[in-house]
Amino acid sequence: MPDRNAKAKILVTRRTFPEAAERLREASDATIWDDEGDSPDHAALVDAARDIDGLYAHITNQVDAEVMDAARNLKVITEFGVGYDNIDTAAATERGIAVANTPGILSESTADEAFALLMALARRVHDLPQIVTSGQWGDFDPLAYLATDIHHKTLGIVGMGNIGSEVARRAQGFDMHVLYHNRNRREEEFGAEYVASLHELLERSDFVSLHNPLTPETEGLMGAEQFKQMKPTAFLINTTRGPVVDQEALYDALKSGEIAGAALDVVVPEPLPADHPLLTLDNCLVMPHVASATNDTRLKMAMMCVDNVLAGVAGKWPPFCVNRSAIEGRSRLEGKA
Ligand code: DGY
Repeated sequence: MPDRNAKAKILVTRRTFPEAAERLREASDATIWDDEGDSPDHAALVDAARDIDGLYAHITNQVDAEVMDAARNLKVITEFGVGYDNIDTAAATERGIAVANTPGILSESTADEAFALLMALARRVHDLPQIVTSGQWGDFDPLAYLATDIHHKTLGIVGMGNIGSEVARRAQGFDMHVLYHNRNRREEEFGAEYVASLHELLERSDFVSLHNPLTPETEGLMGAEQFKQMKPTAFLINTTRGPVVDQEALYDALKSGEIAGAALDVVVPEPLPADHPLLTLDNCLVMPHVASATNDTRLKMAMMCVDNVLAGVAGKWPPFCVNRSAIEGRSRLEGKA
């Protein structure tokens, strides 16, 4: 007979904020993988998941059918992030397990970072400081250290969801002309112009910023053909997922001058080895997957995950469930909203 008074078991696969840990520990029997080193590898995750009711996962965890089958009581998986491509949502849906994420809350921080990367590339904030620190700063020279204007240039946004819209809003403040390409045409927001083809967006843009989720359709979306369609003076910014860009093709395009530069918050693999060819290029700036990494936003994301997982283990729908309509009636939850 199950013990009705036993607290639900929750596994959190990385350390978290004290406020989040406290709420989890008050309401559940929570195990927090609070090692500062690596998150559990796949075998350790399968093992640690065996008797859990709720899983609070991160981008580094491949939450696949094997994990779900090991976790016979699993009712809910929450992802710490908006992208949940590391979770096999179809497998979760088949098993009646709710999947949830943290939408909306990180859109502005991610847009801030995308814009910071755009500005760093355009105004050479990533490479000119080395001229100073290496003692090569010579006399004033009107033709040296030239960069690219941002104002009145064209920004092409690929994927006009919450984050893309926030990037468009920021671009307005710089008098940029904004184009967007999206699965669906949206209400014209922030003066952005819809373009039906990616090809047209790439040909016309001075900056291309990627904001579409990683799906089988978007994997490798930016490859050799797409870089050829971009202007040789154009820059690529990627804050979505590494596999959306074909990195070998990007390396060739950057090296040959087919495009002017790239800033990548996300790459393949993560972490990127320090001897990776992309890191040898002056016109490529790589950040360690930190678009949402501000104190405020990360804390709010953690609290949203706590809300999701505690609701799920209590037999309710998590507030930010992504597969509710697909599993309604077949869930390990009792369907009590
Ligand atoms: C997100 O929210 O998807 C971030 O990239 C963290 O994974």
